[in-house]
Amino acid sequence: MVTNIAGVMADLEPEDFYLLSGVEQGMRFSEWVRRDKLPDYADLTVEEVDYRLDRCLDEELIERRTIQYEGYQLTFEGYDALALRTFAERETLQGIGAPLGVGKESDVYEARSFKPLALKFHREGYTNFREVMKEREYTADRQHVSWLYTARKAAEREYEALETLYPDVSVPRPVDQNRHAIVMDKFEGVELARSKLESDQVLGVCNLVIRELTTAHEAGWIHADISEHNIAIAESGITIFDWPQAVREDHENAREFLERDLRNLTKYFARKYPRETPDSIDVAAIADAVEDGSFETIREFGGV
Ligand SMILES: Nc1ncnc2c1ncn2[C@@H]1O[C@H](COP(=O)(O)OP(=O)(O)OP(=O)(O)O)[C@@H](O)[C@H]1O
Ligand SMILES: [Mg+2]
Repeated sequence: MVTNIAGVMADLEPEDFYLLSGVEQGMRFSEWVRRDKLPDYADLTVEEVDYRLDRCLDEELIERRTIQYEGYQLTFEGYDALALRTFAERETLQGIGAPLGVGKESDVYEARSFKPLALKFHREGYTNFREVMKEREYTADRQHVSWLYTARKAAEREYEALETLYPDVSVPRPVDQNRHAIVMDKFEGVELARSKLESDQVLGVCNLVIRELTTAHEAGWIHADISEHNIAIAESGITIFDWPQAVREDHENAREFLERDLRNLTKYFARKYPRETPDSIDVAAIADAVEDGSFETIREFGGV
């Protein structure tokens, strides 16, 4: 469980951040960074390193392990602190607030600025690192690939997708990205999974989602993790979020991902709203329509 870093931030001094970035630098080369390398990496004296190590260990921003040598590693809290500091320096954020969603692969917080924002810390690699590597097409271009790298790649990928898609597709407006964190507009509404649609809204919402996926496809992206948990629904419309695993429309498995997205979506509607949803929906035919930009309504793709 990664605790909310906001409380710790106020107590940290510039030298603490030097130490944290020193550990971060060392982690590019080894999982556990040798203590005797830290003065160089952090640009601090040996005495200062000793003092800062104790402080950062107390705050659980770093971890120590002694096997063949005494080594240090950032914790996710330490990595969060570095990203937050960058956002504060860039004046992206004024502060962080209540959790909006805490998952296996991310922690999302409300963030304060001139308007309500959301701050998402990626946690990929911490829990199921190997699966993420396999499923999500991250290339390991070094022998040593730490969770830092995996989580940062996920954030970069998600931010890139949001930047291309916004505003043509209803995705959260991207605001900033650093390390494993992204800042975006906070969206309105509740997850589709937790909403109860009126009979006469069901097909409309389903069509709306598929039209958004069609526009995303035109812009070159397939979400690849569509579910009732990654779609928000509000009076003002829908938002499709959670894009770190998105693939390009020219990816060799693009068609497979697209059909899986459409199958997840239509199955959800068929299960939850059987009376309003057409029978035996032809997912492959919908995928064809998405690919050639001609999708209009799901009515054409199943019986009544
Ligand atoms: N921009 C946002 N505005 C408001 N709430 C958000 C925003 N982004 C995420 N959330 C909330 O946080 C939850 C988790 O976000 P998201 O789906 O992006 O990550 P995740 O589900 O942990 O990722 P993964 O599917 O990779 O495990 C969402 O269900 C939503 O409730
Ligand atoms: Mg999600």
